[in-house]
Amino acid sequence: MLEAKNKIGNSYSSFKNVSFIWAQDKKNLIGNSQTLSMPWPNIPEDLAYFKKITWGHSIVVGRRTYLNLPSKPLEGRKNFVLTSEELNDNQIEIVSNLNELKKIIERSPSEKFFIIGGKQLFQATLPWVKWLYQTIISGFFPGDIYMVKINYSEFRLIKQKTIFSKANYLVNFNVFERLED
Ligand SMILES: NC(=O)c1ccc[n+]([C@@H]2O[C@H](COP(=O)([O-])OP(=O)(O)OC[C@H]3O[C@@H](n4cnc5c(N)ncnc54)[C@H](OP(=O)(O)O)[C@@H]3O)[C@@H](O)[C@H]2O)c1
Repeated sequence: MLEAKNKIGNSYSSFKNVSFIWAQDKKNLIGNSQTLSMPWPNIPEDLAYFKKITWGHSIVVGRRTYLNLPSKPLEGRKNFVLTSEELNDNQIEIVSNLNELKKIIERSPSEKFFIIGGKQLFQATLPWVKWLYQTIISGFFPGDIYMVKINYSEFRLIKQKTIFSKANYLVNFNVFERLED
């Protein structure tokens, strides 16, 4: 675990085994509060990428996003769902607060945890994140939920790939690593 200060002086302590993975448009749009679904049609290459990156690991998801997943739990991955509610589902692990999640992550340093959203969960766990798996979809989409503000000067880009999707959008896959002070 790394204890440090970020560029604006707020303390953070990132975990080497915690990543965010999300898709957004160029204006940081990630969701639609009316439908609670993705603002864009299916991007098959992004779905395949998400599966490949997260497969065999743990995913952590907020209750609102989880309940709106088209297929749940996500197979081949351990599903941790943040919620204060009782969810009647024995295929997932309920986590009722951030302290509990922190303990789970600390107990398994060799396990990779992918925070998959939504916004509330990204906001709450931003100080912990070491790796960012960001997909940018070029297009104009309806929606009103935006990705949390990330200070990219605290990260370095370590991988970048651009494709033209079968769904007819230009898609960038970026991976960032948090810089250590
Ligand atoms: N584009 C993308 O990659 C992407 C990825 C994921 C989600 N999304 C979009 O994001 C939207 C949903 O995001 P959202 O912010 O509304 O909801 P969310 O983060 O998915 O879920 C919020 C719920 O999770 C629980 N939760 C979150 N943080 C918590 C904390 N610190 N402690 C305890 N519980 C916590 C609470 O559940 P309780 O109320 O049950 O306590 C809270 O109401 C949807 O539109 C979805 O499509 C987009």
